Amino acid sequence: MPSHRWQIGGLDANPLLPYTALAEAEAMQDAAKEWDERYRQGRTMPDEPAALLVKNLPLLPKGGKALDIAMGTGRNALYLASLGFQVTGVDLSAVAVEKCRQKAERLGLSIEALAADLEHYPLPTGECDLIVNFYYLQRSLTPQIVAALKPGGVLVFETFTIDQLQFGWGPKSPGNLLRPGELREMFAGLETLLYHEGVIQGDRGPKAVARLIGRRASGQA
Ligand SMILES: C[S@@+](CC[C@H](N)C(=O)[O-])C[C@H]1O[C@@H](n2cnc3c(N)ncnc32)[C@H](O)[C@@H]1O
Repeated sequence: MPSHRWQIGGLDANPLLPYTALAEAEAMQDAAKEWDERYRQGRTMPDEPAALLVKNLPLLPKGGKALDIAMGTGRNALYLASLGFQVTGVDLSAVAVEKCRQKAERLGLSIEALAADLEHYPLPTGECDLIVNFYYLQRSLTPQIVAALKPGGVLVFETFTIDQLQFGWGPKSPGNLLRPGELREMFAGLETLLYHEGVIQGDRGPKAVARLIGRRASGQA
């Protein structure tokens, strides 16, 4: 995997950045701080791997390279490593990434855990047997995710839909919530192995999500 181009916290010193880029960078640093604080306080995701992943192992490749997008403390990345995948996980929060590294060490698992901003982190091309993306929505990443899959590679994606607003917790901004049918449209180029939109039972009660497991066609270069 490429090393990250853009280290959080290293931007203040660059006088050549135009104003909008600087404002964007500052906003991202604020977001990173916010996530770091959440992870320090333990206000985050459960430790268990996502049920969508665990219950659908027969749909996944048996091993190879896996990429966990916005992995948090790595509940899914570590699970995949325990299954024998060679896992890279990327997350904006250095605190979450460090927690993941420590967990991996405790569990005797090997994982490449990177702190990087996915708005600026180039995904590899055609290298991944499996990509997982849980509870992170960056629409601009869609073409890169598809291109990062090997032919025959599988994507597992789950995040909140706009219907989550009725439950009063989770993301509030439409930018972070899927519209009806949107996840299917985003990955229309993949063969659909599983698709579901609706309310499921989560660790905090009911939640409105869209879930997709899709495969890049074997003949697709
Ligand atoms: C709701 S958590 C989901 C974590 C993990 N995927 C899981 O399901 O347990 C969203 C994650 O996205 C990360 N994140 C937010 N913006 C990001 C960015 N621009 N680049 C990389 N990670 C980002 C946060 O640090 C956080 O860990």
